[in-house]
Amino acid sequence: MDTTGFAIAIMAAGKGTRLKSKRPKVLHEIGGQALLLHVIAAAKTVVPSERIYCIVGHESERVKGAVASTGVQFVMQTEQRGTGHALQMVKAHFSATGDAVPEHLLVLSGDVPLIRPETIASICELHLKERAAMTILTAVPENPTGYGRVLRAKADGPEVTAIVEQKSLTPEQKGAPEINSGIYCFETAKLFGKLDSLSTNNAHGEFYLTDVAAMLVADGERVVAVKTDSVNEVLGANTIAEMMHLDAAMRMATAQKLMAQGVTIFRPETCVIDAEVQVGPDTVIEPYVQLLGATKIGVECRVRSYSVVQRSVIGDGVVVRNGCILEGAEVSDGAVLGPYAHLRPESRIGEGAHVGNFVETKKLTLGKGSKANHLNYLGDAVIGAGVNVGAGAITCNYDGVHKHLTTIGDGAFVGSDSTLVAPVTVGAGAYIAAGSSITEDVPEGALALGRSRQVTKPGWVAARKAADAAKKGC
Ligand code: UD1
Ligand code: CA
Repeated sequence: MDTTGFAIAIMAAGKGTRLKSKRPKVLHEIGGQALLLHVIAAAKTVVPSERIYCIVGHESERVKGAVASTGVQFVMQTEQRGTGHALQMVKAHFSATGDAVPEHLLVLSGDVPLIRPETIASICELHLKERAAMTILTAVPENPTGYGRVLRAKADGPEVTAIVEQKSLTPEQKGAPEINSGIYCFETAKLFGKLDSLSTNNAHGEFYLTDVAAMLVADGERVVAVKTDSVNEVLGANTIAEMMHLDAAMRMATAQKLMAQGVTIFRPETCVIDAEVQVGPDTVIEPYVQLLGATKIGVECRVRSYSVVQRSVIGDGVVVRNGCILEGAEVSDGAVLGPYAHLRPESRIGEGAHVGNFVETKKLTLGKGSKANHLNYLGDAVIGAGVNVGAGAITCNYDGVHKHLTTIGDGAFVGSDSTLVAPVTVGAGAYIAAGSSITEDVPEGALALGRSRQVTKPGWVAARKAADAAKKGC
């Protein structure tokens, strides 16, 4: 649809007292992203960011910082005196800046984060079609308590008479099932014409934007309601519990989307999958897996239970066994990880490579087909292809002040329990004897032994026992 005449205001200045949290409400996260970022993302599908006005107030610098990269405009509401007052600030912003007042203003709430682009577009369309001064998005949830209620002139007609806040409901109105979502479309001039007449004569002592509905009706203006059937989408998040309800709804929607794309997710209700995660078809996600941030997983992988994969890119046919933790890692096709591998940032695992039990990696490049299967620490290292890193071998990358690099050439064999004291280079095809401390470079194809020679004393135990017995006998 043509949205050239539209601008969007997002109310995000409130403190969120009911959360009992120091963090501003709109920066609380669901689906791994701040509430406000979800709303801005939906808004940006309708109008460009320079026509999105984000009303900020409580902890405004923090809120602005968190969403600045989206390119939206900010309107300051220094004192938060209600949703009507928030829109008064938008009106004042237009007169102060001389910005062109848009013909229509879509108002979104920063704490109603599951709103879908298609719903926003349809309310705008309906608003135009109905030629309304105000169009209100509504829903009928199981429990309407706490929300403002939308009263219709006739049960089967779109016309609204008023929005009544929870605390002002008369006993008869308490059963009214249709809630105000806090999402509206206005003919801007008609909204702005009413804002100065709002009063604070109500239960909260605030300027209610919702009062504009009855004021417009009194002027003979058309105020209509559009009901959405997807109730979750318009639920607000006023308490942590409500927020976690939305979080679960959003993650379930993400899991459903991935399953529709051919991903198998066992017990999806136990998995924590962020909205931006991508997974290829025929990949299997087992119960209790977390996939977080901009994680991307290829096709035909298996991610086993209790693994946490964050901001990582995994190729095709990779097996992530139980209990792995990946953060900022890149894993190539056919690699096998875990169980209990810990891949820290800048770990690059080559094609078909194995990183096994209790192995920690950081800033590691591990070549094609190389194996580090048991109890290793590999940090600040570049390891070639076909290398075998024995059990317990580690890189000593830190001298207490600086980090140093370990380089291991193709086909090298690092014996168990070796320590590679960086900076150090092991040439291609070289062998490191088990238990060695390697402090000097090892040339290609050489054998390096960095440990003292074994001393064996035959018959020592029996001789010792005989000596002890003789002592006791005296
Ligand atoms: C509001 C509606 C209610 C509706 C509900 C839907 C009013 C008076 N009531 O109630 O009818 O059912 O949303 O979720 O509007 N905000 C500001 N500045 C302020 C006050 C609030 O920017 O001075 C922002 C908040 O940050 C929040 C949004 O406006 O994002 C809604 O405010 P909130 O206090 O949560 O309103 P509700 O009580 O939920
Ligand atoms: Ca709210």
